[in-house]
Amino acid sequence: MAEPASPIEYLVIFGATGDLAARMLVPSLYFLDLDGLLPLNLKVIGSARTAMDREAYVQRVRLSLEGRSEGLDAGVWSRFSARLDYCQADVTQGHGLADLAVRLGTAPTIYYLALSPSHYGAACAGLDAAGLACGDCRIVLEKPLGHDLASSRAINAQVAQSFEESRVFRVDHYLGKETVQNLVALRFANTLFEPLWNNLAIDHVQITVSETDGVGERWGYYDEYGALRDMVQNHMLQLLCLVAMEPPADSGADSVRDEKVKVLKSLRPFTAEYAQQMSVRGQYRGGVAAGKAVPSYAEEKGGTSDTETFVALRADIDNWRWAGVPFYLRTGKRLPERRTQIAIQFKALPHSIFGAKARDDLIANRLVIDLQPDEDISLLLMNRRPGLIGTRLKALPLSLSLDDGGRRRIAYERLLHDVLANSPALFVRRDEVELAWAWIDGVAAAWRELAMTPKPYAAGSWGPSGAFALLERSGREWLDE
Ligand code: BG6
Repeated sequence: MAEPASPIEYLVIFGATGDLAARMLVPSLYFLDLDGLLPLNLKVIGSARTAMDREAYVQRVRLSLEGRSEGLDAGVWSRFSARLDYCQADVTQGHGLADLAVRLGTAPTIYYLALSPSHYGAACAGLDAAGLACGDCRIVLEKPLGHDLASSRAINAQVAQSFEESRVFRVDHYLGKETVQNLVALRFANTLFEPLWNNLAIDHVQITVSETDGVGERWGYYDEYGALRDMVQNHMLQLLCLVAMEPPADSGADSVRDEKVKVLKSLRPFTAEYAQQMSVRGQYRGGVAAGKAVPSYAEEKGGTSDTETFVALRADIDNWRWAGVPFYLRTGKRLPERRTQIAIQFKALPHSIFGAKARDDLIANRLVIDLQPDEDISLLLMNRRPGLIGTRLKALPLSLSLDDGGRRRIAYERLLHDVLANSPALFVRRDEVELAWAWIDGVAAAWRELAMTPKPYAAGSWGPSGAFALLERSGREWLDE
């Protein structure tokens, strides 16, 4: 259980002029205020290297909120804007922190590092040197934490010099998504699934995170990482853990994270031989996406690159529950649709009593959890087609839509709410991050050994042909085919 802590008085966002702050953090805080979920006296201080006074910062925030489709409520804005302040500082160099220290005093504060992770060590040291890493203060870090296990360990060690683990909140924004939380409820608030949630009943699992956008202006960052490190190391392994973990004793932060750690420890390490068969790297060429001509990754980058914008692989979890059940993970940019989906494919019937014709209609049961753009859960069940002669069968989904017509929350709303409440369950513990990197390092090393370069795929397609072969080899197929 988290220790009861003093109420937070300040939230300081370093990197306040950046994209994450403008698109996610500030709107999330505004919506929390709208719902009456921000502590009454909380002040929000934006901080960046840019010289700006409070009025200019408030105006900047106002413009970014007005640009959103939800519009700005005058009453909420008046309350929210009164919380805002600005402090020019370079936290990585320690510049401007003396001024911040005067404003904050010893008040319990959250520091949100909306900065490149390469600056986390210096930022924590800067805060510490300025006397700002006080006992009630918390620090929030974004992914990617490092580029591999060694660099991740180095960042975590630097942060740990100033903030002990219980005060470090590592964000994986997928854990803030409503449907991701609902996956935990679905598994552990129903008796129905648990007896079937294993290799006796489940044939395989597919996890797809497909995006239609290209890398665009982000290639400076992306080219260093690629889809494996940008998406699989964090979001996709977190989804895999929530599907695969054993039932925790309770929903407390460490109970759940302990179970996720056990899954990560059971992931079968990749070898070159395995990677050759069980993984695919791709990079998009130009093509047509959403009816528009789009450039290739190399054209966006302005040069050739060996970075993958698509990855598909088979992960195996070597434990009692999941032995022999492949988890197929697939993610990429410039795919035909935006979709985040987990599909649990149950095994085929051992024997059909319905005769040859009906046998052709039979489809094995499947539980599909759509996380975005739609939020719903459907269970594919076989039914009898109405009629007098013979038996023909038809698969029909039993669907639950989670859309209640209300505003779709930004994942960061829940995460900011939880860090304010000192509730770390939805944040990633140090051992989780490091185990995930250890496995990813194995995949990357296997690719290096094989000199496996990304295969081209047309923008708007489902990736290189190898991605289909990956499943076909074992008589399976991706669900969109
Ligand atoms: C980020 C990745 O973590 O997640 C991006 O860096 C990716 O490359 C994004 O586009 C996807 O997030 P969401 O919430 O839009 O699915």
